[in-house]
Amino acid sequence: MTFERIDLEVPAGEDLRAAALVGLARTPRALPCRFFYDEVGSRLFEAICATEAYYPTRCEREILTARAAELAERFAGHALIELGSGSAEKTALLIAAWVGPVHYLPIDIDGSALERSAERLLDGGTHLRITGIAGEYATGLARAVEVVAGPKLVLFLGGNVGNFSREGAADFLAGVAEHLNDDDGLLLGVDLRKERSLLERAYADPAGVTAAFNRNLLVRLAAEADVRVEPQSFDHVAEYGEADGVVRMYLCANRRTSIRIGEQSFRFEAGERIHTEDSTKYGRGELGALAAGAGLRLVEHWTDPAGLYSLNLLQR
Ligand code: AVI
Repeated sequence: MTFERIDLEVPAGEDLRAAALVGLARTPRALPCRFFYDEVGSRLFEAICATEAYYPTRCEREILTARAAELAERFAGHALIELGSGSAEKTALLIAAWVGPVHYLPIDIDGSALERSAERLLDGGTHLRITGIAGEYATGLARAVEVVAGPKLVLFLGGNVGNFSREGAADFLAGVAEHLNDDDGLLLGVDLRKERSLLERAYADPAGVTAAFNRNLLVRLAAEADVRVEPQSFDHVAEYGEADGVVRMYLCANRRTSIRIGEQSFRFEAGERIHTEDSTKYGRGELGALAAGAGLRLVEHWTDPAGLYSLNLLQR
């Protein structure tokens, strides 16, 4: 049982204040969703996953529980590399099913999430080596494949691929595919298109956890980036665009207010919005094309019994 941590540098110019200056000057105004995940944000995301309204976590757990033994047999001896590992709560199901020693390499932008998940995982397993990589997906994966000599199963779970645009997802997966050999696999969690009411409830849960998660972007701006902003002056909004299958999240001014960054002041009238996240949903028929766009084959497509969410195995 071991845990080591590698910290990669976040690229220069990508700090929160700089991103806010650029994003708030743009039309429509936007803040990048990658800044959701500081320690508070990661904890709030874990709390979202525990809500009844946010079905993806529950559905993915159901599929993983049903398929863990099959995956463990198919990929025996493979290292597990996880992009955006977060709490790694569902990955624990796979690790428990793995036969023999496991080398697990979680990659997450939030180093504190790596520490917390490693603590929990090492508690349960005696045959586990963890190499946590604090950094972004692409640089984290490049480092992970340097560390792993043998075959690997790359995990990209939780519907994280949905936070890319459709084109962005194909490009990103093509980048992942470059690191895959013929024996390797990519296990991809993809949320599916479904009726609006279920989606909008999942992204605006009645307990307001997602609202706190969204507003945490503004809390961070105030606390870390010397920005003058009143988070309570903004409401959380989630809307599903049925035509393109995208849930969009916004922070919407509920009164006249402004956000001040140094000399710059960004004024908001009530009802003006900041776009904070897209969560793209896929139809069953789109997944083969998504895989093919990345130069991969869709080898397996599993859903939960209600058909809300899917887990997909992609290979070269
Ligand atoms: C991390 N990601 C897959 C989540 C999603 O469903 O798009 C982020 C999230 N935003 C609001 N709720 C969850």
